[in-house]
Amino acid sequence: MKKFAAFISIVMAVTFSAGLVVGADAPDKVVIKEIQKTKPPVPFDHKAHTAIAKECKVCHHKDAAGKEQKCSACHKAAAEGKTVALKEAFHTTCKDCHKKDASKKAPTKCDGCHVK
Ligand code: HEC
Ligand code: HEC
Ligand code: HEC
Ligand code: HEC
Repeated sequence: MKKFAAFISIVMAVTFSAGLVVGADAPDKVVIKEIQKTKPPVPFDHKAHTAIAKECKVCHHKDAAGKEQKCSACHKAAAEGKTVALKEAFHTTCKDCHKKDASKKAPTKCDGCHVK
């Protein structure tokens, strides 16, 4: 039991010290699978994208620093007033930046993001 408690405190220490570097509990690599009806899920390297975008606000446009939420916290299956549907929220944010990528490494075709 004591050993387990020590293990937990190490896990907590590591978690929190890592948290200080990237903020809150920002994910590293995730697979976006919020909608999942017709297209395969989209792997998303959150850490690499944070470096590319430089500012969290580029994507987390409504959240205060350190309070970033998933897009699905506000964007739902259907648009609500000015709040576009979740699919549009992703497509606009992701594709607009990819189209501007001079290196052409950012995927713009469907299966570049929706990998099988
Ligand atoms: C830059 C990345 C990107 C590209 C390019 C892209 N998508 Fe998506 N798309 C996403 C993300 C992220 C989601 C949300 C996935 C989820 O939550 O399952 C999504 C969701 C969807 C959904 C709703 C989910 C579902 O399973 O029904 C459809 C349909 C879709 N995309 C079709 C397309 C089509 C068609 C193309 C090509 C014309 C395309 N996408 C290109 C990123 C992309
Ligand atoms: C290129 C776009 C982009 C940038 C830049 C970005 N994020 Fe994110 N972040 C996302 C997306 C998309 C998700 C949600 C993925 C999902 O729905 O599974 C997310 C999820 C998160 C989550 C998880 C929220 C939860 O409730 O699970 C946190 C925390 C977070 N981001 C923090 C940050 C912080 C802090 C920064 C800046 C250092 C940052 N993000 C930069 C796109 C981005
Ligand atoms: C706290 C609520 C909230 C969260 C979280 C949120 N949004 Fe939004 N979003 C909104 C609202 C409200 C609008 C309506 C337009 C406006 O007021 O700017 C919007 C509009 C948008 C638009 C349309 C902008 C335009 O100019 O047409 C995009 C794209 C978008 N959000 C992407 C995202 C993405 C991607 C995420 C997650 C990384 C996200 N949003 C998280 C509330 C939110
Ligand atoms: C601020 C600009 C920007 C935004 C916003 C952005 N991306 Fe990217 N993305 C890039 C760039 C630049 C690359 C190419 C990176 C490289 O050099 O390989 C890339 C590469 C990718 C790749 C292929 C490489 C990999 O990591 O597997 C995927 C998949 C991807 N992005 C998905 C997304 C999704 C999904 C979103 C929206 C949630 C998104 N991106 C939003 C700029 C962006």
